[in-house]
Amino acid sequence: MQQIIKTYQDAPSNIAIVKYWGKKGLQEPQNPSVSFTLSKALTKTNVQYELTDNKLNINFIFEGKEKDSFIPKLNFFIKNIEHLLPYLKSGNLFIETENTFPHSSGIASSASSMASLAKSLVDISEKIGNSHTNKQVLISEIARLGSGSACRSTQEGWILWGKTPVISESSDAYGISVNTSVHSNFEDLQDSILVIRKGSKAVSSTVGHSLMNNHPYKQGRINQANSNIAKLLKALGTGDFEQFAIICEEEALSLHALMMSSSPGYTLMAPETLEAINRIQEFRKNSQVPLTFTLDAGPNIHLIYQKKHIRLIQPFIKEHLAPLCEDQTVIYDEISMQTN
Ligand code: DP6
Repeated sequence: MQQIIKTYQDAPSNIAIVKYWGKKGLQEPQNPSVSFTLSKALTKTNVQYELTDNKLNINFIFEGKEKDSFIPKLNFFIKNIEHLLPYLKSGNLFIETENTFPHSSGIASSASSMASLAKSLVDISEKIGNSHTNKQVLISEIARLGSGSACRSTQEGWILWGKTPVISESSDAYGISVNTSVHSNFEDLQDSILVIRKGSKAVSSTVGHSLMNNHPYKQGRINQANSNIAKLLKALGTGDFEQFAIICEEEALSLHALMMSSSPGYTLMAPETLEAINRIQEFRKNSQVPLTFTLDAGPNIHLIYQKKHIRLIQPFIKEHLAPLCEDQTVIYDEISMQTN
């Protein structure tokens, strides 16, 4: 008798405040990073698994359409996790996935998609009858092998990934929640994404990470990230938004400075990105309203602020920042903090 096992799982995207940039070994980070998960930007994944004796066969549907171009990447991922989930050596795997947010909008879809897939594959493993003693760690580790930052999307809220001396339980293999040491000032953060450019970026993150291997500032970056992790965790614990904003912007601008000083060097910021940064910093100086920003590896800007300042900040976004965005597109999201 054929046995078909089904599961549905979703996972949020995340935005890093201290950035993961550069890898070692099998997708382990060169430096520790900290992010928070978003509440509206999700990947929803349905997986069906049919037990057979045949070598694993994968079908992949993305937003209603078969996407065969993704199969080699999935095969590579499954090969890397087979030792963790041996059932994946055989059978038929049917994956159907969709995002609640648009493509190339500055929201990391690889994080939410690999996290929801990792949750699905572990759930199927349990339904087959396997037991996993440390399920949360296993899911995060599997997600990491799919996309590094995805290991910070398998639990909600503030997640630390990467070994750092300040937190003894930290690991290069998986993310851990630091929610319990976060002040209430950081429990309702807003993330408004200025979509400066909608198209996909000219240089992928994969290439960017690899350019860190022989980067002249590699050791300096590792030191900076470790120091910023310690400072960020302290600011998160005491509720110090001013210090948080300093670290946030230093990390965003350092990430892009590392790209510019790679060999070959490249820029991902657009002219409107720089104009928006100037307007944000000026607004903060003149109004004394605490508003900060971060950037991922692209031209779009994540504006970060507390819920209590929405009334003052959102009119500024609409009037002075939205006109810098492609088709005036701004995506309003916020942190998700429920504990799993
Ligand atoms: C700039 O996790 O997308 O967003 O491990 O190659 O899949 P891979 O890279 P990815 O890199 C994300 C880099 C970043 C910073 C961050 O999220 O920490």
